[in-house]
Amino acid sequence: MSRSNSYIVGFAATICVICSVFVSGAAVSLKERQVTNKILDRQKNVLSVADTEKFTPDTLKAMTSDEVDQAFSDGIRARIVNLETGEYVDDVSGMDANTYDQQRALLDAALSHEAPSNAAKVLRMPNHALVYQVVESDKVTTLILPVEGKGLWSTLYGFIALDNDTTTIKGLTFYQHGETPGLGGEVDNPTWKAKWPGKKAFDEQWAPKVNVAKSTSRDATYQVDGLSGATLTSRGVTYLVQFWLGDEAFGPYLKNFRETGA
Ligand SMILES: Cc1cc2nc3c(=O)[nH]c(=O)nc-3n(C[C@H](O)[C@H](O)[C@H](O)COP(=O)(O)O)c2cc1C
Repeated sequence: MSRSNSYIVGFAATICVICSVFVSGAAVSLKERQVTNKILDRQKNVLSVADTEKFTPDTLKAMTSDEVDQAFSDGIRARIVNLETGEYVDDVSGMDANTYDQQRALLDAALSHEAPSNAAKVLRMPNHALVYQVVESDKVTTLILPVEGKGLWSTLYGFIALDNDTTTIKGLTFYQHGETPGLGGEVDNPTWKAKWPGKKAFDEQWAPKVNVAKSTSRDATYQVDGLSGATLTSRGVTYLVQFWLGDEAFGPYLKNFRETGA
């Protein structure tokens, strides 16, 4: 039985409308869950660098969202830092560290500015950054700073954790990137991430020095083994870490922290 052209076009159009209603309905109804999962993933990443021994990949995988929330509120404090002055602003400006969205600030010209030319290819910077602190008996033991920058294919977003001496690295993790799995994507490999704790971020003059090296020398104080077959992603990691630890970004904050211990 042959159908008329208008029947075929009408049939195809009806199927398209029904499918698009399903797809957009699913996207809208799952939006909230996507946002919640994104926040959960960020929190897990913060925990993973806050205490690499306690929050191993397996432990974090097994934790429910309530347990992650609990671990987060038990030991982690969020603070907002003015990047230019390096001072905390959440206690003076009415900004709330629990709701401040540093990524959203980048979209607002009043809350962000053009980044100075840099090797990490960061184009815009927020005026205020959200940092996390591990607090034990009222003492800050670890600083967790957001970092981002270009790899080969994508922008990598992550956190670097520093001991309260502000130079000993406790961990580095990325919660979002689009590098190739098995090559640049190995930035997520726990074996590679385990090479970061203990490295020193700064030299004696407090210039950022830690780097991902193709071949590490005997004095590997500042060097982390490169990712094989992924020299460009490795280089990107060096650039982004050094940029965010430098004077243009968290330098003033880290200097203040060293001087005041808080
Ligand atoms: C399909 C494909 C995907 C690649 N993905 C990456 C990547 O994610 N990161 C990276 O640095 N290099 C990647 N490369 C390799 C780069 O093009 C380049 O050859 C490499 O970074 C050089 O690293 P090497 O000196 O360690 O071999 C990819 C290459 C191909 C063909």
